[in-house]
Amino acid sequence: MPKLKLPAPPIPLPKPLPKRPGAPRQTPVETATEAGISAVDWVDERTSLSGAARWMMFRKVPRGTNWFYTLGSSTMFAFLSQAVTGVFLAMYYRPDAAGGAYESIRYINNEVFLGEFVHGMHKWGSSVMVILIFLHMARTFFFGAYKYPRELNWVIGVALLILTMAMSFTGYLLPFDQRSYWATIVGVNINGTGPLVGPYLSDFLRAGPEFGATTLSRFYAIHMLLIPGIMAALIGAHLYLVAKLGTTAPPWLKPSDPVKKEEKA
Ligand code: HEM
Repeated sequence: MPKLKLPAPPIPLPKPLPKRPGAPRQTPVETATEAGISAVDWVDERTSLSGAARWMMFRKVPRGTNWFYTLGSSTMFAFLSQAVTGVFLAMYYRPDAAGGAYESIRYINNEVFLGEFVHGMHKWGSSVMVILIFLHMARTFFFGAYKYPRELNWVIGVALLILTMAMSFTGYLLPFDQRSYWATIVGVNINGTGPLVGPYLSDFLRAGPEFGATTLSRFYAIHMLLIPGIMAALIGAHLYLVAKLGTTAPPWLKPSDPVKKEEKA
């Protein structure tokens, strides 16, 4: 029977020699850098996470990759910004339909330190995210990135688009002023006109047949727990597929095109 040949175990790297007495002292920056590297090494030795990070970040990208390829990362940045500002808003917001919600938003805007700024970032950031996600979708569509083998990533993207719209819809009610209240009633009624599932969907959103006190809590739970959780998982799957399959080359690039000087470098 042939002998099974196992690869040789890795040779451990030599440890740095201890400092000699009288050797020049490290600057605080050097000490901090060394402490940072030791901490990262400590975690890596126990988890081997650096391999996963290298796999994700150090990938070959096709020739002709341009600024349009940053739209996906920009959308992700907008999502993260919404998550961070949303956490701070949740520290003060009260989903109380009997005036508490409106009052808590007034308090955030007028009394809380930087409250109006963080609220503004969250409010305008939602529009920014919607614009970016459509631009990113347009880029992947016009570059033909939805084709084999990336169909599943397109489908995940469609789910992310629907969830982003659902975030905008559920978030709109939260200030609970006249505009958000009536606009949401219209939106829920539109949902109710959908075929088959429509009436069930509008009952689910209203938390019953009437727009009542629990409607606001339901919208809040969907907005800050349910949808962001699903979106985070889907973004993880989306990025995994991007790293696994790589990105598509621009459609106008032909294999015979000469390589530019800066691409050679
Ligand atoms: C929260 C929303 C989304 C995030 C954070 C996100 C993030 C990303 C990132 C970072 C990339 C890498 C390449 C690039 O940036 O262009 C990518 C690629 C891709 N995305 Fe998205 N995306 C989102 C939504 C969507 C939507 C709505 C679609 C389409 C319906 C979509 C379809 C795709 C496809 C097909 C690729 C592969 C592109 C290629 O191979 O060139 N994504 N996405």
